[in-house]
Amino acid sequence: MKNFISVHDVSDVNALVGKALAYKADPFRDKTLGANKRAGLLFLNPSMRTRLSTRIAANNLGMDAIVFNIDKEGWALELEEGAVMNGTTVEHVKDAAPVLGQYFDILCVRTFPSLTNKADDYGEAVINQFIRYAGIPVVSLESATLHPLQSLADIITIKETFAEKRKPRVVLTWAPHVKALPQCVANSFAQWVNAWGEADFVITHPEGYALDEKFTNGAVITHNQDEALQGADYIYVKNWSSYQDYGKILSTDPSWMLTNAKRALTNNAKVMHCLPVRRNVELSDEILDGPGSLVTQEAGNRVWSAQAVFGEILKEC
Ligand code: CP
Repeated sequence: MKNFISVHDVSDVNALVGKALAYKADPFRDKTLGANKRAGLLFLNPSMRTRLSTRIAANNLGMDAIVFNIDKEGWALELEEGAVMNGTTVEHVKDAAPVLGQYFDILCVRTFPSLTNKADDYGEAVINQFIRYAGIPVVSLESATLHPLQSLADIITIKETFAEKRKPRVVLTWAPHVKALPQCVANSFAQWVNAWGEADFVITHPEGYALDEKFTNGAVITHNQDEALQGADYIYVKNWSSYQDYGKILSTDPSWMLTNAKRALTNNAKVMHCLPVRRNVELSDEILDGPGSLVTQEAGNRVWSAQAVFGEILKEC
């Protein structure tokens, strides 16, 4: 594996999940694989789970990991080609990224979309510049459109909790939120579940919230949440802003928030969310504190997701 930006960087999803679960069973089985190697964890945006789980994963492999909160501690980055830098930006990414490539063996980048410029966001303008100029493997810690380490952790969580000899019914449902959030987690979950191919996959959202078809093709899509929830084994709850009316909030309808009454429609479904979550807006207390919630286990699996990806990259660098 050279870079880890999307599921397309993975040749065999099940093999990568297997590797992650092997690390979960024995975290230090490759404790010298990353000896004398260093990962840079570059954050342009806030994070708790990604920042800590990725660092733990690197340490488990014997790799040094340095966190750099470039948005707060670094120079203001310019990303536009040909920019006349007479404003607030101080350093161009094409100058900064090659320097980071000198300091690190793997560069991990967390960036969010603008939610105002769809072409730039869906062209992955930021992370692609780091790939172009750093000269070392780049791992996405969430980009403008995708969150692959999260999605790998999500598949790990489904695999380790589903014991039946049939495909699970997995439902991705939109939920209300007070802020306009990226489509990344939903795009990425759809992309990974479709590529994995071992679930009956349904997406439900209000009108105006259709995701980019390049991620959702292969899923059944409905605006009827109750219908989607019938017989569900897993419910993946997430808010996203509109893709068509880009970055806009078109609905805050509280009836889309998952409750025990809605969960009663399912096959005793497990409930997933990437966290952080706004309680009693995006997801109810009764679900988050109830027996079906997998959110803590899911976040714990972020360590094994990152460790499996580092393990693959370190084999080649
Ligand atoms: N799920 C997730 O990426 O969490 P953080 O934003 O805290 O890293």
